Amino acid sequence: MFRFLNAGESHGKALTVIVDGYPSNVKVDKNKIDQELSRRQKGYGRGGRMQIEKDTVEIISGIRFGISLGTPITLLVKNRDWENWTDIMDPEGKPTQKKQIVEPRPGHADLVGGIKYGFYDLRNILERASARETTTRVAVGALCKILLEDVGINIGSYILSIGEMRLEERDYGSLSLEERFANAEMSELRLAVAGKDEEFKDYIDRAKKEGESLGGIFEIYATGVPIGLGSYSQWDSRLDGKIAQAVMSIQAIKGVEIGQGFALASKVGSMAHDEIFWEEDRGFYRKTNRAGGLEGGMTNGEPIIVRAGMKPIPTLMRQKSLQSVNVVTKEPFVAAKERSDITAVPAAAVVAESMLAFVLVREILEKFGSDNWIHIKQRIEEYREYTRRY
Ligand SMILES: Cc1cc2nc3c(=O)[nH]c(=O)nc-3n(C[C@H](O)[C@H](O)[C@H](O)COP(=O)(O)O)c2cc1C
Repeated sequence: MFRFLNAGESHGKALTVIVDGYPSNVKVDKNKIDQELSRRQKGYGRGGRMQIEKDTVEIISGIRFGISLGTPITLLVKNRDWENWTDIMDPEGKPTQKKQIVEPRPGHADLVGGIKYGFYDLRNILERASARETTTRVAVGALCKILLEDVGINIGSYILSIGEMRLEERDYGSLSLEERFANAEMSELRLAVAGKDEEFKDYIDRAKKEGESLGGIFEIYATGVPIGLGSYSQWDSRLDGKIAQAVMSIQAIKGVEIGQGFALASKVGSMAHDEIFWEEDRGFYRKTNRAGGLEGGMTNGEPIIVRAGMKPIPTLMRQKSLQSVNVVTKEPFVAAKERSDITAVPAAAVVAESMLAFVLVREILEKFGSDNWIHIKQRIEEYREYTRRY
């Protein structure tokens, strides 16, 4: 079984992850992992932390001379700011009042986590609840993308909206998924259409001035996916459900749609489904992709399309702060924070790409075997030929 387990606090010494079940004989380039980490750190509207941290990975185990061994891979990402936090986050030293947090933020894990785990210093909660943890998810995603790209599966993302600012259908024109992705890679906000950044940045600046934070909607896709990953045979083998869980597990994601999702609910059947066509050299295919590449919990060969909605960041800056209650004194207060992300939708999209990559690799290894990548790759090619001839 392909799985990963990560650990680490936001201001701890380091973040770490163990990836188990990654096949042998894969050429792993550390630069590819670092590139993905850097994509997660971009985005207009991020807080000061992104300037402090320039994440790079250290490979501790499971890879020798750039080739995966088929044994557990351990990755480590040091927190560069650690030297300023040694006494506050010390695993062994004496407790300190420094940077103690007793004022829970509405919308964050602070209050419920404090009650549940029995702490009044809410730093014990937020250090792990924080999305800093997603750094190692992106590192795992990079390992997964190396496998996927080797068999012609490509994953990308772009932003559809930030707060009330959205790109309209006409803005996209006839841009393909790849073109949208290429534009997003050039945009500070991962916008799929060139020349729109300034409007969105002004909008974010206005929110910042008012002490507000913003959410938004992004889309992720995977192209080149073989037919028949996932299964209808049990509730927990359905791939649409697995993808939704993986994307929803990202901090602040509150809605996930596959294909046209909620919009399908108001369409008549003849306008909702994707007609089936066949050509000798191509096999079965569709001209539309309203299902987002998934039918019956299985991939149907069309691109997988997933949309996710992120709520506004809970930490608010000064003026617009929400009322809360001090967990020690029980006095009401209105929080005032100095530094936080205003919006992190572009970063969340990169994390979601990683989660989709992970889920797809897991399915591939389940269907095609799980030890030596050279053999797995051969089986995928043979299977693709079979689906073309079916
Ligand atoms: C990439 C990313 C960056 C985030 N940055 C912040 C931040 O700077 N401040 C903050 O309060 N929340 C931030 N969040 C959101 C919180 O982590 C999240 O709202 C919180 O953990 C509570 O979880 P929930 O929103 O899923 O209920 C971020 C989320 C993501 C995905």
